[in-house]
Amino acid sequence: MTVNEAMQRINELKKQKDICILAHSYESRDIIEVADFTGDSYKLSVDAAKVTNKNIVFAGVHFMAQTAKMLSPDKSVYMPNTAAGCEMAEQMDTDTLAAMKKAEPDRLVVAYINTTAELKTLCDVCVTSSSAEKIVSSLDEKKILFIPDCNLGAFVQKACPDKDIKLFNGGCPAHQRATRDDALAAKAKHPNALLLVHPECRPAVTELADYVGSTSGIMSFAKNSDNKEFIIGTELSIAEHLEFECPDKKFYLLTKNLICPNMRMTTLMDVLHICEDIDTPEAADREIVMSDELIAKARVCIDKMITLGG
Ligand code: 13P
Ligand code: SF4
Repeated sequence: MTVNEAMQRINELKKQKDICILAHSYESRDIIEVADFTGDSYKLSVDAAKVTNKNIVFAGVHFMAQTAKMLSPDKSVYMPNTAAGCEMAEQMDTDTLAAMKKAEPDRLVVAYINTTAELKTLCDVCVTSSSAEKIVSSLDEKKILFIPDCNLGAFVQKACPDKDIKLFNGGCPAHQRATRDDALAAKAKHPNALLLVHPECRPAVTELADYVGSTSGIMSFAKNSDNKEFIIGTELSIAEHLEFECPDKKFYLLTKNLICPNMRMTTLMDVLHICEDIDTPEAADREIVMSDELIAKARVCIDKMITLGG
């Protein structure tokens, strides 16, 4: 089967089986093209809450599909490839967070959305890379425990100097591979290019950037800028999408090491197979199943994120 034939079949199955496809910006071009909603994790959370279809297929990583299920609990939510997890989301367990809360009970717990549903049950408010600064600055509380990403936390601390933010030592293994030397070398090699980076990068990298933002933020900045050259400091797929969408501009990689194997795991054929299997018992192994109690407890901090993130 060719890529075009697979895409055509997916589009037919979407109509026949009332399926809506959500795809994170890091997914491959062919998956983005069959998706109904694409974007960063904040946009996809807002989109998931609005879906009217019976079934959601979520192309991304596990915590994102879980978030979609929590925001649309009456829908059946499926992952095309359930092996796609986020390494950072697994870095902190509930015992560790419970101990930190006990040690400092006066701190509000702000969780990056890249966390498990179980951990979210202990958190006060969630944030994403595009909403963290806005949400933290809108909070009345001054004392905050920010988990698990110390780089996004440090970025928020810099943007909100009136807050007292305690960080956990977590982070994205892919973004942490980008170094200050990579940034200096890329800027020296491409002196006319603007450096656009994700806040999951280390502070030594973000402080050299011309723009720091989410995956969608980086794409919009590059599309709307009058500049013609950009160094992209997030998963390699974003530079590939930008090359396709802005053929008149040039995109360079901050480092070729910035690869998230999990985000690359889902293929167009995985999407086709889950669409074929939906409405049969074969799809059960890829359905997101969560108890009503877990959804009720874990979504409180996500609802607060959407209220404050507006
Ligand atoms: P976004 O908020 O940009 O979607 O980031 C999610 C993520 O996992 C980046 O690595
Ligand atoms: Fe998680 Fe990092 Fe992959 Fe994003 S790039 S999904 S934070 S491991």
